[in-house]
Amino acid sequence: MTTHTPAGGPLGRLSLSRLISRRAQSIDASGIRRVFDLAAKMKDPINLSIGQPDFPVPTVMKEAAKAAIDADRNGYTVTQGIPELLHAIWQHLKVNVGWHGPTDELGAVVTSGTSGGIVLAAMALLDEGDEMVIPDPYFVMYNQLGKLTGGTMVRCDTYPDFRMTAERIERCITPRTKAVLLCSPSNPCGTVLSGAELKDIVDLCRRKQVLLISDEIYDEFCFSDARENGKCPSPAQFSDECLLIRGFGKTYGCTGWRLGYVAGPKDIVQEIAKFQQYTYVCAPSMAQWGVVPSFGVDLSPMVADYEKRRQMVVDTFADITSVPRPGGAFYAFVEVPKHLGMTGQQFIEKAIDHRVLVIPGNVFSTRDTHFRISFATRPDKLAEGLGILRGMMTA
Ligand SMILES: Cc1ncc(COP(=O)(O)O)c(C=O)c1O
Repeated sequence: MTTHTPAGGPLGRLSLSRLISRRAQSIDASGIRRVFDLAAKMKDPINLSIGQPDFPVPTVMKEAAKAAIDADRNGYTVTQGIPELLHAIWQHLKVNVGWHGPTDELGAVVTSGTSGGIVLAAMALLDEGDEMVIPDPYFVMYNQLGKLTGGTMVRCDTYPDFRMTAERIERCITPRTKAVLLCSPSNPCGTVLSGAELKDIVDLCRRKQVLLISDEIYDEFCFSDARENGKCPSPAQFSDECLLIRGFGKTYGCTGWRLGYVAGPKDIVQEIAKFQQYTYVCAPSMAQWGVVPSFGVDLSPMVADYEKRRQMVVDTFADITSVPRPGGAFYAFVEVPKHLGMTGQQFIEKAIDHRVLVIPGNVFSTRDTHFRISFATRPDKLAEGLGILRGMMTA
């Protein structure tokens, strides 16, 4: 029996490839998908690929989120974020980077994850052909922001030490550059730039009249040897004309709550809020209430624990290959030893045969010479995985 449309024609299947945008078609997710497909087939894997903390959300935050739900605070919030959270953010920024806001010049908006803040910032800044300088290696989303906005991502090569210095950035700046996107502590390398390096970048951006965007999602995961005056260095300590993007998910182990914030020049923050109004509307309500008490949580035991795990990673590879010592986050970017003659992809496929899951460098870079380890994993599992990876390099 033939089915007919109301107009009487035969009802064929939709030709979906015609409907999918060129923008979507131009995004190649095969690299990371391949890793996850291989991982799905693994039995009892040692998973060193996960980019989220392995500790539970602090009780005070869980209680605050539950209390909000029970008190029927489940509706939309104002686009900008609930006043209680914005107040807590400004209190924190005052102590942390010396920003006294909100003012006529400074504003903040709570976003759906740090990702929400980054995407909306790119939407607010980039027109067709505008350029934004990003690090290479980069957090996976950065390289796609051009596809989303029509802008062009200019990759700043930071090999072999992964420091995105002013000198390296300057080589990438052209008259079309609108912004420089910095990530310190970084994903995938764990690099933490010093205050002096950041000050040079702030000065460069001012001189070149471009906006400095600082993705500081890992700001609390900064190890003792990378801290300055007890704090993770931030360009915001030198200027309130940069766009500060921070998150709660990694910091407090609540990545699924999807919460972050953007603070900086009010005129730009307002444009970001405008895009939020017409897209995500607001960040999740119970999560906003949940993180109000977060700034009072002492994370030092967790950070000290991660610092020990960082040492385990560095000690494992120091005499075999290059692994710049991570100053923060919970990642290390390890070079596949040259004598193996393998790409990052080939090495990780072999690691999967040995039950260890790590991410190949080509997911984060135009090069395929490294792999990323996440040490946000139980120390016994981490030690087992590191032993296997070392064995693969020395066999
Ligand atoms: C550098 C960096 N920025 C942003 C994000 C996105 O974080 P969120 O889960 O808050 O959207 C991540 C997540 O891995 C990241 O590593």
